[in-house]
Amino acid sequence: MFIIHTNKTHNLYSMKHFLIFYIFFSFAGALSAADDKTKEIEMPESFISGNANKGSLLVETCAACHGVDGNSISTDWPKLSGQNQRYLYEQLKYFRDGDRMNVLMMSVTPYLQTLSDDDLKDIAAFYSQYNSTVGQAKNDEELLSLGTQLYRFGNIKKQIPACTSCHSVYGEGNSLAGYPSIAGQQVGYLTSTLKAYRSKERNAGESSEIMQSIAENLSDYEIDALANYIHGLYQ
Ligand code: HEC
Ligand code: HEC
Repeated sequence: MFIIHTNKTHNLYSMKHFLIFYIFFSFAGALSAADDKTKEIEMPESFISGNANKGSLLVETCAACHGVDGNSISTDWPKLSGQNQRYLYEQLKYFRDGDRMNVLMMSVTPYLQTLSDDDLKDIAAFYSQYNSTVGQAKNDEELLSLGTQLYRFGNIKKQIPACTSCHSVYGEGNSLAGYPSIAGQQVGYLTSTLKAYRSKERNAGESSEIMQSIAENLSDYEIDALANYIHGLYQ
């Protein structure tokens, strides 16, 4: 059994993240998103939370795949529970507006198109309030040590930055900046979404360019190792 311990103190939002972010952008000069470096280190705009009670009335059609509390039951469907509101809201807008495509999510796109921005914020608030179920990494020594190494330190030679600099040590992301929590996320989804960034199929919004440039240099085995490690992380 493999569980990675954690504590809440890492939730703190610090300038350190921005510094690391800035250094990463200076170093990965090939990134198109790096054209305007100053933009990337601006403090994020404030985000006004949605209303979870109102959101609870809008999610009936979502439970079949994402579970009633956002803990999906299939390894291929993402958990939404415990995810930060800013990130959920942004992704919902991408799906509604046709910027992010997925066959299964397409079944609810016509419904999402009837919703306002405020409705989407309420849905985000609804899922964000739940705790994400804890995952368990496969105890394969080689896979785990590669996953740990890449997640914590990256690989300078391959220009892969440490995931910790934006998603934090225990994977909870950064709610103010809208960097997603990835802790305990489903393995199948982590694998497919990292591959979708790598192939640039997942290309909604400027932030996706950050992940595209990171995933570009990951092999299938490295993606498996990261997905396994991240699935076992919890906040
Ligand atoms: C038929 C299954 C299905 C239904 C129903 C469904 N989803 Fe999804 N949802 C998915 C899948 C699969 C993905 C992953 C898409 C991808 O790989 O890009 C996803 C992705 C998402 C994401 C992005 C998660 C992330 O981590 O980036 C959000 C947010 C989301 N769905 C919200 C909803 C909401 C709200 C509803 C109801 C209105 C809903 N979904 C209904 C299957 C479904
Ligand atoms: C410079 C900051 C940064 C670094 C470093 C970073 N990420 Fe990300 N990551 C992001 C942002 C921002 C997003 C949201 C992108 C979007 O909107 O599509 C994201 C999204 C993701 C997602 C999708 C989450 C979801 O629910 O769909 C995964 C998985 C992920 N990152 C894994 C990683 C891994 C693994 C590493 C290390 C190899 C890493 N990230 C390094 C900023 C970063």
